[in-house]
Amino acid sequence: MGQGDAYRLAEEAPADWWEVEALYDTCFAPGRTALSSYRLRDGVAPVGPLCLTARDGEGVLAGAIRVWPAQVGSRPVLLVGPVAVHPTRQGEGLGALLIFRSMQAARRLFWPRAMLVGDYPYYRRFGFRRLEGVEMPPPTNPERVLGIELAPGGWVGVTGAVTKWGSAGIAVPAARPAPRPD
Ligand SMILES: CC(C)(COP(=O)(O)OP(=O)(O)OC[C@H]1O[C@@H](n2cnc3c(N)ncnc32)[C@H](O)[C@@H]1OP(=O)(O)O)[C@@H](O)C(=O)NCCC(=O)NCCS
Repeated sequence: MGQGDAYRLAEEAPADWWEVEALYDTCFAPGRTALSSYRLRDGVAPVGPLCLTARDGEGVLAGAIRVWPAQVGSRPVLLVGPVAVHPTRQGEGLGALLIFRSMQAARRLFWPRAMLVGDYPYYRRFGFRRLEGVEMPPPTNPERVLGIELAPGGWVGVTGAVTKWGSAGIAVPAARPAPRPD
């Protein structure tokens, strides 16, 4: 079976929160929340329709993706991740399915660009490329700062420090940040 077709994808519900946290604890090294990318998420609501869970036929959580809004200068950007697939389910295409579906939903919501901190050898297959002149809070290896255009030219002329959503020139909506035209 390929492409994760044994799994049901759904928007993450509030009741899923701690189960997804437990999955992330299983999949990532201890201390994951000390990473600088987590500081960009503190106190910011994730973009609900882009946060997905994948459950098998018995309802067991197999993978999840969360996505937050952030900004580069005063321009909106999606900060993709964490994305994780349970170790016993890896290599079935589920990670790819979660990323593809989440970015597909982001395009439908007119987000122009997305970024993440991750392994280029994995994310290149989705169209992510190394971002020049886009600075994550230290300590972050610039080689791992990757971006994807969700609209043509989405990253053209967009450089600077990545900061928390609402920190400079962007009004903070209540719960689900809406994309904004540039
Ligand atoms: C990364 C992750 C989400 C991928 O999920 P998955 O369902 O196993 O991925 P897919 O089935 O879509 O793709 C598997 C392929 O990706 C490759 N791959 C997985 N992680 C990789 C990485 N870090 N670098 C390069 N290739 C990677 C596998 O070798 C496999 O290659 P193949 O298609 O040639 O066999 C999953 O391995 C995971 O949860 N890892 C731990 C948490 C993590 O590192 N998350 C990403 C944060 S940057």
